[in-house]
Amino acid sequence: MAGSTLEIKNLHVAIEGEEILRGVNLTIKGGEFHAVMGPNGTGKSTLASAVMGHPKYEITEGEVYIDGKDVLEMEVDERAQAGLFLAMQYPSEISGVTNSDFLRSSINARREEGDEISLMKFIKEMDGTMDLLEMDKNMAQRYLNEGFSGGEKKRNEILQLMMLKPAIAILDEIDSGLDIDALKVVSKGINQMRDENFGCLIITHYQRLLNYIAPDKVHVMMQGRIVKSGGPELAQRLEEEGYDWIKQELGIEDETVGQKA
Ligand SMILES: Nc1ncnc2c1ncn2[C@@H]1O[C@H](COP(=O)(O)OP(=O)(O)OP(=O)(O)O)[C@@H](O)[C@H]1O
Ligand SMILES: [Mg+2]
Repeated sequence: MAGSTLEIKNLHVAIEGEEILRGVNLTIKGGEFHAVMGPNGTGKSTLASAVMGHPKYEITEGEVYIDGKDVLEMEVDERAQAGLFLAMQYPSEISGVTNSDFLRSSINARREEGDEISLMKFIKEMDGTMDLLEMDKNMAQRYLNEGFSGGEKKRNEILQLMMLKPAIAILDEIDSGLDIDALKVVSKGINQMRDENFGCLIITHYQRLLNYIAPDKVHVMMQGRIVKSGGPELAQRLEEEGYDWIKQELGIEDETVGQKA
């Protein structure tokens, strides 16, 4: 079988009793790049966190499978072992753990005992990947994300992605805070991952990123659901016209979910 398949079926998620996701259906197969776009506060990051198993997000209905295995039954580390990866919109800082140690133990956590990556091989691979991402080598010895600039954090998420080689990755606003050159570098890294054993869900606000990373499918999220799907031309139209036409099509005024300010 070529690659893995992530299936999200009728997913409903609540936070502190309030329903945020209201029936998300999405299937991503190895080899496919999907983009999810949508206005602020419509549930995109909630989808990412719920699939990865963030404890705050309560699944009230629906199913998630990777290669037919029930993801919702798995602990967070088991989800990573099953091949899932999340690049967070706001990567957390972990003081006291170096970037390099974190990466190496993450890689080894996904390998059998006794089959750990050798230090030499690890360092060689990390150096090569950092070169490709044009990262300063001393970033490897700094504490994970601590004091990293916004753009450095995003680059570092892609370093993890490329080193861990997950089967399915969810990248939440990997383009936010990147300067123009960094956007190209990060896109180059993501594109290098493209093969039949890798599927990717790219959450983004901007068509700009999709000029570099061509999506196979584009989905629009509103009110905690995917309300429209299409090809790259859909992202193009959103860039030109915004979201009002979709709201008109749906006959809704408020696209968000959750509490209003
Ligand atoms: N941990 C949380 N605690 C309380 N409310 C939350 C939490 N996570 C999400 N929400 C609420 O759920 C709604 C959807 O948030 P979410 O972060 O999924 O939106 P989003 O589509 O990713 O928006 P953006 O484009 O701004 O990143 C918002 O109203 C948000 O305040
Ligand atoms: Mg978000």
